Amino acid sequence: MQRTKTALKYLGLGIAVTVMLGLAIAPFSKRLIEQWSRNDVEARSRLVYNAVQSQIVAAMADGDNVQLSLLFSAIALDQRILAVGLCAPQGGLIAPTKMMPAAFSCEKVARSDAESFSTIAIDGHRIMVGAFPVSSGTTRSYLVILHDLSFIDKRSGEARAFIIAVLFGVAVAMAGGAMIFVFVTLRGWMESLRRAVEDVRTGTSSLAATRDQSAIDVQIKKLLSEVEVGRSAINATQIEWSPTTLQQLLRDSLPEAEVLIVSNREPYIHNRDGDTVSVQVPASGLVSALEPVIRACGGTWIAHGSGSADRETVDRHDRIDVPPDRPAYSLRRIWISDEEQEGFYYGFANEGLWPLCHIAFVRPTFRENDWRLYQAINERFADAVVQEAKTDDPIVLVQDYHFALAPRMIRNKLPKATIITFWHIPWPNAETFSICPWKEQIIDGMLGSTILGFHTQFHCNNFFETVDRFIESRIDREHATVTLGGHETMVRAYPISIEWPPAALEGQPPVEVCRAEVRAALGLAPDTRIAVGIERFDYTKGILDRMRAVDDLLTRQPDWKGRLVFVQVAAPTRSKLSSYSSLQDDAVALADEINARHGSADYTPIRLLIRHHGAAEVFKLFRAADCCVVSSLHDGMNLVAKEFAAARDDERGVLVLSSFTGASRELAAALIVNPYHLHEMATALDTALRMPDREQQERMRAMRQQIREWNVYRWAARMLIDAAASRRRQRIFDLAGGAR
Ligand code: F6P
Repeated sequence: MQRTKTALKYLGLGIAVTVMLGLAIAPFSKRLIEQWSRNDVEARSRLVYNAVQSQIVAAMADGDNVQLSLLFSAIALDQRILAVGLCAPQGGLIAPTKMMPAAFSCEKVARSDAESFSTIAIDGHRIMVGAFPVSSGTTRSYLVILHDLSFIDKRSGEARAFIIAVLFGVAVAMAGGAMIFVFVTLRGWMESLRRAVEDVRTGTSSLAATRDQSAIDVQIKKLLSEVEVGRSAINATQIEWSPTTLQQLLRDSLPEAEVLIVSNREPYIHNRDGDTVSVQVPASGLVSALEPVIRACGGTWIAHGSGSADRETVDRHDRIDVPPDRPAYSLRRIWISDEEQEGFYYGFANEGLWPLCHIAFVRPTFRENDWRLYQAINERFADAVVQEAKTDDPIVLVQDYHFALAPRMIRNKLPKATIITFWHIPWPNAETFSICPWKEQIIDGMLGSTILGFHTQFHCNNFFETVDRFIESRIDREHATVTLGGHETMVRAYPISIEWPPAALEGQPPVEVCRAEVRAALGLAPDTRIAVGIERFDYTKGILDRMRAVDDLLTRQPDWKGRLVFVQVAAPTRSKLSSYSSLQDDAVALADEINARHGSADYTPIRLLIRHHGAAEVFKLFRAADCCVVSSLHDGMNLVAKEFAAARDDERGVLVLSSFTGASRELAAALIVNPYHLHEMATALDTALRMPDREQQERMRAMRQQIREWNVYRWAARMLIDAAASRRRQRIFDLAGGAR
């Protein structure tokens, strides 16, 4: 009882210290965030000003207000910018954008030689006005950029809520710890009492049992103290995540855990060509993200053996150690017949779920037989997990829309497994998802997971909405969990990324050499500007749209003719499906048409290279390019965008990026475009190709910094830390004799 009192005393003290800490930190954090956000807004305005100053001067000189309007509208596409306009020397407002508040007047703008920032209140909103002098001839106007500062209050509120939540969490953890401690102590005490009575009755000693109980106490305390350790590590920005830190994390937070990956696409494909067997790394975002992770962690990757020499290269257990040159993990191949492949991969996954989840206006097709085969193949992979698992509680990383049913199947076979499912494509809204005839089974299958990850919070929200509509379950939005049949699934956003530093950068010659080599290989003049697009030949990627944008640019600005070449690399994919083969035909026809319209005997503006390119080739092309166009109509993340930035260690080159990619949430320094708006894309291409060096550098540096900090090791670490916390919670419950 003395220990219980002491625990309660320390608990009270801990809570008091936590509350005092909270009260002390909250105002300080508000000030800090206010200052930081203002600096952020100022820097953003400055960046815009530097970027467009010369274009404004040119338009002013021509007296071209239409050009100014177009330019300002493009600037105002940035979600943070409220409105843009030009204050004329006489005080009038020229070319204000749509959201310019009616109450705004140029009279209030400070007119000085240098930039100035002021805050005004309009309709209860705090608006920051940045005014930048722009001189044309003898007249001076002011570019005004308005930012709505309400986001700062929101940000401060969120930070305060976060601090309070963390402190509350600490207090709850302490209370929980103390309660468990008290509970276990009490239980041990009752047990001791019972045994003492028994001892008195029988004359024996219960010393050994007491020793067992205190060993459990020690374990629980250790587990509790470890729960938050990983979380603080993941938030520490100073940690540069790498294979080493990931391994360290596994050692510290998940000792002895075995890792299994389940995916359809395998990381290494063996193909026979006559007498030789070659190894191919497929063009797959999933593979390029997960391969470095499993190389760091070790374990087993279970995937479909799709290569023509795959069977002859495995051992009698269908396993092969990979990577071929430096084995670090085991690849277990699963065999799928052609008929099964038709129904499972081409049918249900790629004619059903793929178009269902992507807004690209291709109609999803669902067939009974495809569904039957989808179930059968999911079951086969779940069985393989059981065969490969050496323990009863492995960590299983289930990948993508090919395996929506596998999590539940694995859970039934290995109830203690930690199943982390990652959905690499978008999740549609509930209305759209209701098209799927087997929606309930799909959702139920996914809710067998311990953790379910999407790229963006938006897709998590769509998932919650879908579950809410079609399944009887408990949704806790505050903790982002869904509980079904007593089992809880955490639903979280984990934006995927790439390895850093990227392996494909190793051994790359300097940018100038890459450029010269690419120009020589394509037979281009030494001063040709190069724009590139690189991806699988998929209708979600907006390949036709970007070719049309090039067409539009060459039509509206013929001075680019002969000087600009657009290189489109497209790896054939899923070609058996008509939606894919017809895209390929359409792209070839469109390229021919544009080339005929703008080309000549020695100038071909669009180069369409339809074949798989290895990582080194892709990086060389990225390094040779002046700009890269990622115009996906809809994309979960799009790792090509991140790879382009990763390839540019010279901090040059411009990324034109669709706003419908997950990547656009992180890479705000790209030129963000709506791929459905041809004219906007063409203008962005032009801006990219004319962008001053300084601005290219600033943008590229920001993107590279973001990717370096939030690389794929951190992506994996975030999920593994959440997995570790979940496992510890379960162990505490088990030790305390409860169930979850
Ligand atoms: O985008 C989803 C995804 O699974 C990616 O991870 C990957 O790049 C692509 O689809 C691969 O498609 P497939 O395996 O059908 O070639």
